[in-house]
Amino acid sequence: METERLHAETLAAAAASIDRAAAIIRRGGLVAFPTETVYGLGGDATNPLAVARIFEAKGRPTFDPLIVHVADRADLVRVFTTEALRDPRLTALADALWPGPLTIVAASLAEIPGLVRAGLPNVGVRIPRHETARALIRAAGVPIAAPSANRFGLLSPTRADHVLNQLDGRIDALLLGEATEVGVESSVVALASDTPAVLLRPGGVPLEQLRELLAPYGGVEHADRRAPAPSGAALPAPGMTAAHYAPRTPLYVVAPGEVALLRTKLPHLQRVAVVGPDDAATKALAEAARAAGLTVAQSVALSPTLDHARAASRLFDLLHSIDGALAGERSAGILVAPYPSDGLGLAIADRLHRAAAAQHERDA
Ligand code: TXA
Ligand code: MG
Repeated sequence: METERLHAETLAAAAASIDRAAAIIRRGGLVAFPTETVYGLGGDATNPLAVARIFEAKGRPTFDPLIVHVADRADLVRVFTTEALRDPRLTALADALWPGPLTIVAASLAEIPGLVRAGLPNVGVRIPRHETARALIRAAGVPIAAPSANRFGLLSPTRADHVLNQLDGRIDALLLGEATEVGVESSVVALASDTPAVLLRPGGVPLEQLRELLAPYGGVEHADRRAPAPSGAALPAPGMTAAHYAPRTPLYVVAPGEVALLRTKLPHLQRVAVVGPDDAATKALAEAARAAGLTVAQSVALSPTLDHARAASRLFDLLHSIDGALAGERSAGILVAPYPSDGLGLAIADRLHRAAAAQHERDA
């Protein structure tokens, strides 16, 4: 039976409320909190019941493992094996990138409940750099398991109100913070012994930077999980189904030259929001949409002149707000021009393709 929860307690990020949030975590409750990437939905990573509640609150399938957050390097001994901690690649990545938007997947201590790891021998761990997140983890005194604080498959939250819209009534408390700085989730890198490092999910650390840091240690391969895994087949990484991060309004990644064809495939489509990587590409896509007979309700550039950091930080917020304006209209859609995949652009393009894949699954 699902427990009925009242509205989440909202707590300003002051010392007293951090202590209160930490007490909720320690007794097995759920607290959403800001990090520099997206808001997380936190519970005690060492308490299997708390971990189960996270899956329940998100509506997330249990084959999708959770990231465990610790505050300091010294705390890594509570999650990784001694052998994993001796891996020079872990040291190189941690020295350069922690605290920050990087998750490392490596051999787990047996004490981390299997549910956190989806039964795998490895655990994903991150040291966030957001001060509220670190203060919460320190005050709780336990590693905190935290997926992004959204319902499964929907858009990730970059602002406190995004969290409440999706999870109010399903969590105990929300620690308030500003809009998140990075705006896309952490990059996830797997370090298995005897094989090169693998980028499982592009994110807040550019692949180019990971390549440079790992070059002396055999480099890093990019598992491009954009290609949909055949159903039933083992996924290259758990939890990485192609469809993800989707707004409720259908989203299509489309170049200006492809809009006319899209229109003939989707005759019900009438009103669209247009999103592009910069002003010029946005204008070109909006013009193509009008030429194809569509009404352009709004057109927005992710940044005026292709500033990836700015685009990443506003990506989810923009999609949340367009979705709020259009969701429910049967004839509405979101047209997004392809995003270039250099630097942080790789994570942006990845999220857009997953949002579009969710739509293909609904159309199919
Ligand atoms: O920035 C972030 O990473 C945010 C904030 C809250 O830290 N968290 C986040 O968590 O995005 P989530 O649950 O939405 O994404 C976790 C993903 C999994 O879907 C999986 O792809 C990968 O991280 N992952 C985690 N643990 C893993 C493991 N043991 N093995 C392989 N992949 C793992
Ligand atoms: Mg997520």
